[in-house]
Amino acid sequence: MTGGDVVLREMRWWDMAGVLALETELFEQDAWSEATYWSELAHSRGPGRTRHYVVAERPDGSLAGYGGLSVAGDTGDVMTIGVTRDAQRAGLGARLLAALLAAAIGFGCREVLLEVRVDNKPAQRLYQRFGFTTIGVRRGYYQPGNHDALVMRRELTPPGPLDETDPHG
Ligand SMILES: CC(C)(COP(=O)(O)OP(=O)(O)OC[C@H]1O[C@@H](n2cnc3c(N)ncnc32)[C@H](O)[C@@H]1OP(=O)(O)O)[C@@H](O)C(=O)NCCC(=O)NCCS
Repeated sequence: MTGGDVVLREMRWWDMAGVLALETELFEQDAWSEATYWSELAHSRGPGRTRHYVVAERPDGSLAGYGGLSVAGDTGDVMTIGVTRDAQRAGLGARLLAALLAAAIGFGCREVLLEVRVDNKPAQRLYQRFGFTTIGVRRGYYQPGNHDALVMRRELTPPGPLDETDPHG
């Protein structure tokens, strides 16, 4: 499947079952609970909204991926991003990340942070290609597995390309 078969749109409450199924498939012991997703979505609408969640929907209505951004002041945080295994390595993760960065700019963010497991090299590679650099480590960030997280950051000012900074890197 190519990334072009799917459409990105805002995540809504009726996506919950599909998102939770993907969450369990992709994150296993680090998966977020349903309560966490309801809380995130509750903050994604209205004038004071601080979240932006998107899903990648196939023509048949099933979900191929999703991602979410949280905003505090002028700092965005990539809360999650995931692509179902059979759709990975087709550019969808990059599309989702680009959508979250565009949303961060829309919120007026000047920088975007994220946490990623130290052993999650595919995700780190994706983030590096979008210009994120490692600024620190959070010990035991992922529980109950007690895995450490890298903290990565990308400035949004001056505005840069939303695509990979080094597509051939
Ligand atoms: C990380 C993830 C979202 C990437 O999604 P994807 O759709 O495969 O990403 P893309 O196809 O857009 O790949 C973009 C780049 O990411 C990197 N990448 C993605 N998968 C990779 C892999 N398995 N190994 C090495 N690099 C990889 C590469 O730089 C890739 O570019 P390339 O294919 O031209 O080499 C996906 O692997 C995933 O859902 N993983 C499980 C959930 C997860 O760990 N999320 C991140 C939490 S912080």
